[in-house]
Amino acid sequence: MTGEFELEAAAPWGRNRAEYTTFFDLAGLPARRRILDCAAGPSSFTAEASRLGHLVVAADPLYGLPKEEIKVRIEESREAIAAGLRSAGHRFVWDAYGTPENLEATRLSAMKHFLEDYEEGLAEGRYLEAALPGLPFEDAAFDLALSSHFLFLYSAQFDLDFHLASVLELCRVAPEVRIFPLLDLDGERSRHLLPVIDHLQGRGLATEIRKVDYEFQKGGNEMLLIRCEAPS
Ligand SMILES: C[S@@+](CC[C@H](N)C(=O)[O-])C[C@H]1O[C@@H](n2cnc3c(N)ncnc32)[C@H](O)[C@@H]1O
Repeated sequence: MTGEFELEAAAPWGRNRAEYTTFFDLAGLPARRRILDCAAGPSSFTAEASRLGHLVVAADPLYGLPKEEIKVRIEESREAIAAGLRSAGHRFVWDAYGTPENLEATRLSAMKHFLEDYEEGLAEGRYLEAALPGLPFEDAAFDLALSSHFLFLYSAQFDLDFHLASVLELCRVAPEVRIFPLLDLDGERSRHLLPVIDHLQGRGLATEIRKVDYEFQKGGNEMLLIRCEAPS
């Protein structure tokens, strides 16, 4: 089924650290990892994980905007997402959140946390304006790169070339990349997933589709893990 959940190409909307931990199977991650959250938007992951001692940098084109404008963009997303959930609520698993109102409250709380951290984080270089597929980081600047709710989700808006270039760029800056979810906005497995995996395997990189303990989009309980160092 298509057309029920329409969003402007990658509208800002933010999830929290507990959600990221399940999306990316991060429980037990050793302290002081250098983590890139790419397409981080108004997620509170960076704010929360930094406080726990991880060295997290969030990258997103959104960070070219001042806080007050980001608040306006979040409000616009809120209306679009509420409308999408009204028309396509049956495509989601509600066990964890209960109701659309509870889900929205969870998201707004994460984004409030992000907004409270934003200006301090900008000054400290933890929030950096940047856009895939070209990132302003040195090779292997991070131990792990994460991308939540951008790559694969917006498969209708961003083509295979964009996905390939973006995944290779994430691999340039980190030896391990994790991407969640693998479904598009229509709740179908992304049309780009298998071609991206084929391409990576053709370069000798190891990929794994890992089941995770999170499912909100029905069937959206898989994460792609890429080990970016080809055997020599
Ligand atoms: C739905 S939000 C996801 C935010 C966060 N990762 C999360 O899961 O809560 C998608 C984000 O992708 C960002 N985005 C759009 N184009 C991008 C690009 N070319 N490179 C990196 N991020 C981009 C948007 O600005 C937006 O913040």
